[in-house]
Amino acid sequence: MALGCSYGTHRVLEPRGVLPQPARRLDNESAPFDNEILVDVETLNVDSASFHQISESVGGDSAKIADRILQIVGERGKMHNPVTGSGGMLIGTVRTVGPALKTDLKPGDRIATLVSLSLTPLKISKIKAVRPETDQVDVEATAILFETGLYAKMPADIPDTLALAVLDVAGAPAQANRLVKPDSTVLILGGGGKSGLLCSYVAKRNGARRVVCFDYSEASLERARRLGCYDEYIQGDARDAIAVMQAVGEKADLTLSCVNVPGAELSAILATKPDGMVYFFSMATSFTAAALGAEGVGSPVDMLVGNGYYPGHADVTLQLLRENPTLRTMFEELYVAGR
Ligand SMILES: NC(=O)c1ccc[n+]([C@@H]2O[C@H](COP(=O)([O-])OP(=O)(O)OC[C@H]3O[C@@H](n4cnc5c(N)ncnc54)[C@H](OP(=O)(O)O)[C@@H]3O)[C@@H](O)[C@H]2O)c1
Repeated sequence: MALGCSYGTHRVLEPRGVLPQPARRLDNESAPFDNEILVDVETLNVDSASFHQISESVGGDSAKIADRILQIVGERGKMHNPVTGSGGMLIGTVRTVGPALKTDLKPGDRIATLVSLSLTPLKISKIKAVRPETDQVDVEATAILFETGLYAKMPADIPDTLALAVLDVAGAPAQANRLVKPDSTVLILGGGGKSGLLCSYVAKRNGARRVVCFDYSEASLERARRLGCYDEYIQGDARDAIAVMQAVGEKADLTLSCVNVPGAELSAILATKPDGMVYFFSMATSFTAAALGAEGVGSPVDMLVGNGYYPGHADVTLQLLRENPTLRTMFEELYVAGR
């Protein structure tokens, strides 16, 4: 039996000895090992920070975005943006399940991977469509899921592209569900974005007293108002730390950084109580900026790295769409009707 490492190190081409996520290049050519799953990929949900960076670098031109994605995957064997370091997720159909795997998956099952594209061997033969409004890309491609790779079977009651979109950010609402305390103040930077909206509902549902949305454009604030889970709406630039702190006023017990641009670390830190917590979900977060920035302003605030995984995160997040009809309608308009 041809068994690969359960974490996928057998597919790391360079540098040797590292795990697939930090690797520069993966083997996306070899036939599946007996403990791997081969997936026919339909859609990539490119991580927002990554899509935003690629789009900006080519002036928003869809054909050039497609070229850049093909270039990255061609060079790296995975959709691992070298600038942001982030990936995204995919949906597809299981083609083969390695005989050495103990799993309930079978060929023909439709799944979303819950591990990042930044560690998933991917081979794209064609990009069929780029959808900038949703960061999603339709492809003809194959991907490999390692033995330890997490996945979710696509739910019967939620359209695929919608499920893919929310599963991509499932770590945020699942962590918010754990972190929001009753009667607390919760600040969400990028509060009108996908993860921000999901977290706002969790915060209100879990009994936060004051939930504050901070976002950049009027369109994002309008989305947040429509959902109606916030108590306050502030328009501004999350990269301007002093302005954010002043606008928020009474500091937050918990701040969730859900922006998709770099440079928002100190806003989150300064707008949070010294004994509070900042959850950096944003992939554009710099560890150095957060650690040295907190030290520089003398804040002992707890800071949590936005681990994309939390036990049960997929179920928790899909359940939010079932619980809140407005949330579901808004997301359907964006991720289903907008296709
Ligand atoms: N930790 C993880 O495992 C994980 C997993 C998936 C994604 N992520 C990351 O999580 C972040 C949020 O993802 P998402 O899908 O929720 O993104 P999204 O839907 O694009 O939302 C981002 C929000 O940030 C706002 N924003 C951008 N620049 C801003 C600024 N200067 N000041 C204030 N607000 C600003 C955007 O507003 P405008 O549209 O008005 O600019 C938007 O509302 C991204 O960085 C993404 O890469 C992390």
